[in-house]
Amino acid sequence: MSPENLCGSAATHVWTRTVQCSSSHLSGRGRAHHRSHASRNARGARVNSIVTTAGGYFTSEEIDQALAKHKPVLFFLTHGESSTGVVHPLDGIGDICHKHNCLFLVDCVASMGGAPLYMDKQGIDILYSGSQKVLNAPPGTAPISFSERACQKVFNRKTKPVSFFLDMTWLANYWGCDGKPTRIYHHTAPVSAFYSLRESLAILAEQGLENSWQRHKEVAQYFHEGLEKMGLKLFVKDKNARLPTVTTIVAPPGYDWKEITSYIMKNHNLEISGGLGPSVGQVLRVGLMGGNSSKASVDMVLEALRDALRYCHKSKV
Ligand SMILES: Cc1ncc(COP(=O)(O)O)c(C=O)c1O
Repeated sequence: MSPENLCGSAATHVWTRTVQCSSSHLSGRGRAHHRSHASRNARGARVNSIVTTAGGYFTSEEIDQALAKHKPVLFFLTHGESSTGVVHPLDGIGDICHKHNCLFLVDCVASMGGAPLYMDKQGIDILYSGSQKVLNAPPGTAPISFSERACQKVFNRKTKPVSFFLDMTWLANYWGCDGKPTRIYHHTAPVSAFYSLRESLAILAEQGLENSWQRHKEVAQYFHEGLEKMGLKLFVKDKNARLPTVTTIVAPPGYDWKEITSYIMKNHNLEISGGLGPSVGQVLRVGLMGGNSSKASVDMVLEALRDALRYCHKSKV
């Protein structure tokens, strides 16, 4: 069975439901982690978590020890953790997983196209993303890719998946990547959404993947410098672990973060979010990705923040 690439006819969440083996080990303390954990628990999978501080990431030693302790069949990590603004280092983790006879599953929903990622070189077995982030395509389609090792696991499982819609053997056949001569109807796919996804991928390919990574990096650095010049603090201390697509800013002391985000929405028509999961109440989150990853967009956001900090109530205590 050759490695397989296909696309789901649903939001990215469909893949956290699909990639379920009998036991899993989840990590990457963030929103994606919590959703995946909840999803797997709901499907009866045995789930163990490792937790690190919000805004931080796991060392290879911590992962190695956790895999030795729990002996999972699958290790899940979010590459671009959009709730904390961390881009998790991936080098070496695939090898650690394989040493423990475990598959390596990565969520790159918020990072694909915006931060360097090498599925084969980094030993990733299952990698999924979404159409609606860096690709700027409409939401509702979710690309996924399986390594040879993952294909073997999926196609040789002894029990049937509980979901027909999410059965990879059917989906692989439907997408014509199971090597069989005949394709069988599985569902009616959102064809127009797939065309828009294809076009957004073509635009990214025209720009060049490395150029896109570089642009996101430079724009994020420009943004971070602008924030620090205004006296704001970045939530992720390690500069190299800052996700170029989603910036987390420490909620400005003395302010009500909700007043800031509402003010900016009302007066500047820009959506800045608060924290999610482990970062609730602690941060403001700004997503600048794909077409929005530009210095002009950064200037707009900085101006909106400057204005909000001038007009929103600041407690003197
Ligand atoms: C890192 C990450 N994973 C998963 C998701 C979920 O994607 P979807 O809403 O398409 O299910 C998001 C959404 O923002 C995300 O940022």
